[in-house]
Amino acid sequence: MAVDVLLGLQWGDEGKGKIVDVLTPQYDVIARFQGGPNAGHTLEFNGIKHVLHTIPSGIFHSDKLNIIGNGVVIDPVVLKKEIDKLLAMGVDINKTLLLSRKAHLILPTHRLLDAASEKAKGKSKIGSTLKGIGPTYMDKTGRNGLRVGDTMLPDFQAKYRFLTSKHAELLAFYEFEYDLKALEEEWFAGIESMKKLTFIDSEHYLNKCIQEGKKILAEGAQGSLLDIDFGSYPFVTSSNTITAGACTGLGISPRTIGKVYGIFKAYSTRVGSGPFPTELEDATGEELRKKGNEFGSTTGRPRRCGWLDLPALRYSIMINGVTNLLMMKADVLSGFETIRVCTGYKVNGAVIDHMPFEVCDTPMEPVYIDLPGWAEDLTGLHDVHAIPEALQAYIRFIEAQVNVPVSVLSVGPDRKQTLMLGAL
Ligand code: GDP
Ligand code: IMO
Ligand code: MG
Repeated sequence: MAVDVLLGLQWGDEGKGKIVDVLTPQYDVIARFQGGPNAGHTLEFNGIKHVLHTIPSGIFHSDKLNIIGNGVVIDPVVLKKEIDKLLAMGVDINKTLLLSRKAHLILPTHRLLDAASEKAKGKSKIGSTLKGIGPTYMDKTGRNGLRVGDTMLPDFQAKYRFLTSKHAELLAFYEFEYDLKALEEEWFAGIESMKKLTFIDSEHYLNKCIQEGKKILAEGAQGSLLDIDFGSYPFVTSSNTITAGACTGLGISPRTIGKVYGIFKAYSTRVGSGPFPTELEDATGEELRKKGNEFGSTTGRPRRCGWLDLPALRYSIMINGVTNLLMMKADVLSGFETIRVCTGYKVNGAVIDHMPFEVCDTPMEPVYIDLPGWAEDLTGLHDVHAIPEALQAYIRFIEAQVNVPVSVLSVGPDRKQTLMLGAL
């Protein structure tokens, strides 16, 4: 089997960018399959930190191909900024970055509609990244969208004007004030920059790669608990963030999927609104945020922090068919005397082991088990035999609870701060 999938099992920001970069040497092609510039994937090596939004996280390996698949939504303004930054660093993206003709475009008016919709929702807002993700996927499923390949067609301008005039009506309905001129200027500059890239029919391209025996890693964005179908709706993103999304977002058959790498933080975070059963709105939550530097890579917003939620993790593992777990940010838990893990939720006096349908409105109290913490600083850890006993016990406990091995342990943001616990 030729396509392995790597995705987040929580509410995003699990550390996908770092791990894709670490695993890239084992692959020929890295392919992003959904989401857009709502994502912020961080990589660190040689003392430099990079945040990618649209471009796959294998881009720093000059001998690998990176593909932006049809399931991704692209804002040409953000893409241009990413490209310019990489070119300035000497990364020759012209040779290694390919873009699906079928990927949909985020228009300036999609961003405005995102903002208008959130404003209208008031207190019940999703907490969207305001990148235009929801409105763009709405136009995709509504059969109104513009795609990357459309930019090469003679009627592109006319199609653009037609769609923006529809958006103008909606924005008037929202009574949302805006100035489109400057936004359009930078958008069309972005389109020109994008047109210098190589456009492909990524489904044909990737299936040919599979036939040739090339190894592909599909890179997810967001996390399974933000999935449009299986997340805490409506506090979700607008795409399928799960393994199935790799098939629709790249045009590959489910039979080609090999391993499914599920990434999770050793605790939990969430940015934006919506249910978060193990959230800690106290000094411990603050300590996690501070030690983990839990501020959004895309928006800079403080992330909500809490303990690990096993029922939620088990659910994500089930939906995705996870074969290997990768535990991130274990270093952040150093120094906590006790580490709590949620094993179920108390709802109306009874303990349940899954999130109920009305997860947004049901009062839920997490049921915890307390495990001993460890004091050792892990950030310099390179030898698996030197992993503190309490951390080993924490890992074994999680493995026993979810029945999937933890194959990778991450103890810092740098590439090198990664321990292989088992074969991948
Ligand atoms: P992504 O969206 O899943 O790629 O994750 P983000 O990049 O948004 O957020 C993860 C953050 O944690 C980034 O700032 C990473 O540099 C950082 N990070 C990744 N792995 C580790 C780790 O093991 N320990 C620590 N302390 N930071 C990590
Ligand atoms: P990565 O790939 C964390 C959240 C937003 C909001 C909700 C909907 O870096 O893990 P959207 O802009 O998609 O309409 O926002 O989803 N969200 C993320 N949270 N990491 C992300 O991406 C996210 N992308 C969207 O905060 O709650
Ligand atoms: Mg992120």
